Amino acid sequence: MLQADKKGIVLVTGGTGFVGQAIVRSLEKSGYKARILARTTRFDRSHHPAVEFRQGNVVDGQGVESAMQGCSAVIHLVGIIRETRFQSFEQAHVQATENVLKAASAAGIQRYIHMSASGTRAHAAAQYHQTKWRAEQLVRATTLNWTIFRPGLIHGPDGEFTRMVMQWHDGKAPPFLFMPYFGGGLLGQRAIARVQPIFIEDLAELFVRALEIPDTENRTYEVGGPDPFTWPAMLEVFNTVLPGPRRAILGIPFWLAKALSAFPLPGLPFNHDQVVMAGEDSVCDLAAVKRDFPGFAPQPLESSFRGYIATMAAG
Ligand SMILES: NC(=O)c1ccc[n+]([C@@H]2O[C@H](COP(=O)([O-])OP(=O)(O)OC[C@H]3O[C@@H](n4cnc5c(N)ncnc54)[C@H](OP(=O)(O)O)[C@@H]3O)[C@@H](O)[C@H]2O)c1
Repeated sequence: MLQADKKGIVLVTGGTGFVGQAIVRSLEKSGYKARILARTTRFDRSHHPAVEFRQGNVVDGQGVESAMQGCSAVIHLVGIIRETRFQSFEQAHVQATENVLKAASAAGIQRYIHMSASGTRAHAAAQYHQTKWRAEQLVRATTLNWTIFRPGLIHGPDGEFTRMVMQWHDGKAPPFLFMPYFGGGLLGQRAIARVQPIFIEDLAELFVRALEIPDTENRTYEVGGPDPFTWPAMLEVFNTVLPGPRRAILGIPFWLAKALSAFPLPGLPFNHDQVVMAGEDSVCDLAAVKRDFPGFAPQPLESSFRGYIATMAAG
């Protein structure tokens, strides 16, 4: 546990990303100094002059141990949702976690917070989940005081998912004519999986509060927003809040999505793993998180989305 009066510097791997930027803001608000580790400097530091940036790569380990010098804790976020020719799931999840854990031990760091994902389990169908599981197992095998978070869908103003939903609504992204989800049945008309989206600021609060709550050490938390939705019900919330005419919400049959992703043509906006994961429930029971984080009250999807869509429109 970090003592509230000895907050110190917290290293955030992947701190320039969607989740990372929110965590950096939350760290600063709580009196920590944040140090970011990423491969490139794509972070607007004009609003965060105190944030330190260290260039490094968690996959080959370059710059990782030196970035940890003088830190009191590490928040390891780096991960990918789709493989590229530069980074596989194995590298970005398993190898990266191994390097970060080794460097944290060598640097004498005690407190370690790990980003995993909902659905992570041994023998998961998706490669994403399988490699997240193996990374979690590496964390559990260390002597560091660790905490693992498994969020499902995360939404927020800079998030890829929110941007995509807005483009679907405006007819600016495939399939252009409607807001899609993967559905069961011959025509995809049946909603078969549920999601429980969490607002990015609520998730960032948990990562930072965990640093000072001893009961969270060596525990894994499933986290989500307050309400589960079927995919079409969730899209309907965005549809209702977004300005402009309501867009139709229609299912793409799973069998078709699976067939297309088995032999993907260039430009296909989803991959096999994403189809598999969209067919699984990604919901959780918040009892453990509410027990260990007193007062934690994640914001409902509709009100939080209304809040930031207004800011986005103004900006
Ligand atoms: N977004 C979601 O809905 C969601 C849901 C559940 C779990 N998660 C997990 O949350 C984590 C963060 O997701 P995100 O949405 O914030 O991703 P993101 O926006 O793509 O950010 C990824 C961050 O990692 C850095 N990075 C990537 N490869 C790196 C490497 N080899 N070495 C050092 N830094 C590297 C990137 O900067 P550079 O490219 O400059 O290196 C960037 O700072 C991931 O582990 C993801 O699996 C996300």
